[in-house]
Amino acid sequence: MQLMWGYAPPLILEAAIRHRIFDVLDNGAKTVEEVEEATGASARGLTAVMNALVGLDFLSKDTLARYALTPESAAFLVSSKPSFQGGMILHCSEQLIPKWLRLNEIVATGRPAEAVNQERVGGDFFHKFVEDIFPMSYGSAQKLAGVLDLDGSGQPVSVLDLATGSGVWGIALAQRSQRVRVRAVDWPEVIPVTRKTVARLGLMKRFQFVAGDLLTADFGCNHAVATLGHILHSEGEERSRALLRRTFGALGPGGTIAVAEFLVNDERTEPLTGLLFAVNMLVNTDNGDTYSFREISAWLGEAGFVNMRTLEAPGPSPLILATKP
Ligand SMILES: C[S@@+](CC[C@H](N)C(=O)[O-])C[C@H]1O[C@@H](n2cnc3c(N)ncnc32)[C@H](O)[C@@H]1O
Repeated sequence: MQLMWGYAPPLILEAAIRHRIFDVLDNGAKTVEEVEEATGASARGLTAVMNALVGLDFLSKDTLARYALTPESAAFLVSSKPSFQGGMILHCSEQLIPKWLRLNEIVATGRPAEAVNQERVGGDFFHKFVEDIFPMSYGSAQKLAGVLDLDGSGQPVSVLDLATGSGVWGIALAQRSQRVRVRAVDWPEVIPVTRKTVARLGLMKRFQFVAGDLLTADFGCNHAVATLGHILHSEGEERSRALLRRTFGALGPGGTIAVAEFLVNDERTEPLTGLLFAVNMLVNTDNGDTYSFREISAWLGEAGFVNMRTLEAPGPSPLILATKP
């Protein structure tokens, strides 16, 4: 019965974020009437949703019926905080769930509801999406920046940020060291979003933007670092292997590749997030899936990389790193 209502929590969270419930509770506990006054939403709607959020441990309620944030919602659901993780949730009702509603038919045919791996559909999809998922990867990107030798040589460090989206990976590396220069690649429809984020953070002089498909765009050469943030899962195995080969060619000797993914174990029995995300790829892509460290390592090895390793990072999975000899 708990799973029967499994679709409700993300929709409740989305409604709460859109009606600024977490934002207005950030400066102290409030009654429904006070939240109604601050948000303009209906008392009936707020009461139902806020009580459900208490049941979900995202709010607490005291004996005077005042609602307050819990440590988790205070950390991750207040939209003004850099640690806000509600970005993906905001896309549930319009971009994600409508396609999942066709899962019965998708399982029968093996064909997605929409193929966001194709530019015609994906350009618009990711244009709306990538800024909101910036915080999902920012912590991991900062962790990566901390372990790479970005200042050591004293020379400029060239970073190739593939499927750049918001630019989060290149941005965190550029923020870490003045020596970093980033070549950011994505579809033409998404590059304006990358430019916007990079400009907001004052990094335009350090970025070059390349609009094109990952299997044909000009990657340049001799990069010290290449980042592939959450792209292999939508590309599927064949295109991922081709992409890793192209990336190998674009790195200089000693260069590092960093791959961020929703990983699964070799047996595909856990973790649940990776298994669920594989269904999301069934629903949204032609050939996408989630992969194990062993599978991605084998593709990296086939492309010529050595020393495949993981780096624990504050994201959905550890990062995978490898070196071009
Ligand atoms: C899930 S987003 C990840 C964005 C960013 N790397 C991050 O980790 O937040 C995937 C990105 O890949 C881009 N993308 C997907 N397929 C592509 C392709 N064939 N060619 C170029 N860009 C592509 C999308 O436009 C989107 O910006």
